[in-house]
Amino acid sequence: MFSTKRLLAFVCLGLAYAAPQSANFRVHEQLVAAPRGFTSVGPAPATKIISLRIALAQSDKDGLVEALYSVSDPKSAKYGQHLSKAEVEAFVAPSSVTKAAVNAWLQENGLNATSISPAGDWIGVDIAVSKANSLFDADFTTFAYQSSGKQVVRTLSYSLPEALQGHVDLVHPTINFPKPIDLRLPKTKRAFHEIVPMKRDVASTCANGTIPACLQDLYQIPTTPATNNNNSLGVTGLFGNNAHYAFLEKFLQTYRPDMDPTTNFTVVGIDGGVNDQDGSSVSEGEADIQYTVGVATDVNVTYYFIGPDVNDDPTGGFIDEANLLLSLENPPLVLTTSYADSESGLSFDLIDKLCQLYAQLGARGTTILFASGDSGPGCLEDSSANFAPTFPSTCPYVTSVGGTQSFSPEQAWPGSSGGFSNYFPTPDYQAAVVSAYLASHGSKNAGRFNASGRAFPDIAAKADHFVVLEPDVFSFTGTSAASPTVASIIALLNDRLLNAGKPPLGFLNPWLYSEGFAAFTDITTGNSSVHCSQSDTARGFDAEVGWDPVTGLGTPRFDKLVSLLGL
Ligand SMILES: *[C@@H]1O[C@H](CO)[C@@H](O)[C@H](O)[C@H]1NC(C)=O
Ligand SMILES: *[C@@H]1O[C@H](CO)[C@@H](O)[C@H](O)[C@H]1NC(C)=O
Ligand SMILES: *[C@@H]1O[C@H](CO)[C@@H](O)[C@H](O)[C@H]1NC(C)=O
Ligand SMILES: *[C@@H]1O[C@H](CO)[C@@H](O)[C@H](O)[C@H]1NC(C)=O
Ligand SMILES: *[C@@H]1O[C@H](CO)[C@@H](O)[C@H](O)[C@H]1NC(C)=O
Repeated sequence: MFSTKRLLAFVCLGLAYAAPQSANFRVHEQLVAAPRGFTSVGPAPATKIISLRIALAQSDKDGLVEALYSVSDPKSAKYGQHLSKAEVEAFVAPSSVTKAAVNAWLQENGLNATSISPAGDWIGVDIAVSKANSLFDADFTTFAYQSSGKQVVRTLSYSLPEALQGHVDLVHPTINFPKPIDLRLPKTKRAFHEIVPMKRDVASTCANGTIPACLQDLYQIPTTPATNNNNSLGVTGLFGNNAHYAFLEKFLQTYRPDMDPTTNFTVVGIDGGVNDQDGSSVSEGEADIQYTVGVATDVNVTYYFIGPDVNDDPTGGFIDEANLLLSLENPPLVLTTSYADSESGLSFDLIDKLCQLYAQLGARGTTILFASGDSGPGCLEDSSANFAPTFPSTCPYVTSVGGTQSFSPEQAWPGSSGGFSNYFPTPDYQAAVVSAYLASHGSKNAGRFNASGRAFPDIAAKADHFVVLEPDVFSFTGTSAASPTVASIIALLNDRLLNAGKPPLGFLNPWLYSEGFAAFTDITTGNSSVHCSQSDTARGFDAEVGWDPVTGLGTPRFDKLVSLLGL
């Protein structure tokens, strides 16, 4: 579809921008209307500067995915031979033809672009709204989100000029509206009491809430300190969820008396994020840090704290974070993120691009973990009966962590999100267990999920009643807590692998579904539930024997993982 309408509008308004030489625009992405909950409050101010991220076509994106699988599949001869920074960049760098086309376009339009990825496949351009409108035949508008009044600048459609077609994959933020799911449940304040680990059995260590000793007993996680200097664990922070050294110190004193209480973490700010030790506490950051530093004993933890510059755009923050990690010679060997969005609220182009960034990190040897979400199978705001899967959990190149509750036995936690992607097809690594699940249980909730989609979560861990100090005790429940726990387990395994001269685990899924599952405890009781609205409080999926869309393959056992890996 070709269109010159915006261009004409600008000419009529007498604006001084040089019209792009090619008037042939083709609509690249568009929405029929703003998503439910957003209302237009008028055109975005013409002089307002917006930061656009432009994704260029990569020279061999399929090759990168093939390379990812060949280093992540235990059956492959190249298993564990993770790619170097340069090797990954060779796959994803734009071709010289693409570079030339984009440079010519930048020059022609007097644009100053910065490369925002090490391979040059993402560029950033800060431009006024009026210029963005003419460059992309867009109509950037200010939209308010009804429930919060927060405003964002987006366009319902944008086009690419002829010269960029085939060379630009997407421009962001444009048609993707943020609708972050904050994975935190309303926190429940409890009376403060010290819990001193005494007898080492789950009945006592898990009795008053989930503390490091409870997780150590439940999953047989050792207290032995990690020793390898090349080991590292990254934690993503967002939405002002800072983490305090002082609270961590108190946490370690209380629950890890065997550790040095001054054990620290490093903060790396992204998009204006700063190491704010004075700000008030928002529990997510404290929980994610306390259950990584406090469980992955002596593993170097870095808090990648995405700042206010992208608070209206968590996906943009994830893109910037992934590109930052890819620019490192040694990215963290594990990255855990306890934030998610609804897949349906994002365009396929955008989630495909972000997912591809995680494929690059996986190829480098980083394990990417995401909390699966806290709304059970989820439901769409448009009140259709379909379940709403979460992203990035539906990305086939990340490992999605669901939640359990209790301890003897562990059961599915009803909030544990899981289900099936509407965008990504079932990857080969999980095809057998997912079709087994569907064959036995697929008729339940049929029609509310897409049986041909990538199924999640992959695994699960305890998610209820985590004791978090901020500095008083908060009881914290959610898959948000499960993902840091799994990250700690992976980091402690990586430590042993590195010390044995072996590569880190990297992208887990092909190994998890073919071998790793044997070291997981299958969770077979409990179910997820939909609790999006009063009228829709249906039972979601059930935990079943084998993989299920509530607890995946089950919960990890460190001792079994150690023997499975021959450590
Ligand atoms: C282009 O952007 C870079 C990085 O932001 C900046 O250092 C430089 O001064 C800019 N140049 C022009 C001509 O605006
Ligand atoms: C749990 O709390 C109760 C009551 O506060 C206390 O008596 C008990 O010792 C605590 N158990 C553990 C393992 O801390
Ligand atoms: C820990 O990570 C930080 C940030 O990446 C790095 O500066 C530091 O050297 C690391 N420390 C060790 C002991 O590896
Ligand atoms: C850490 O990695 C470097 C570079 O890959 C290697 O030379 C060194 O031996 C490693 N150190 C340990 C303790 O494994
Ligand atoms: C179901 O998922 C597949 C990808 O696996 C996708 O191609 C298809 O469009 C999805 N169907 C619906 C109705 O979303």
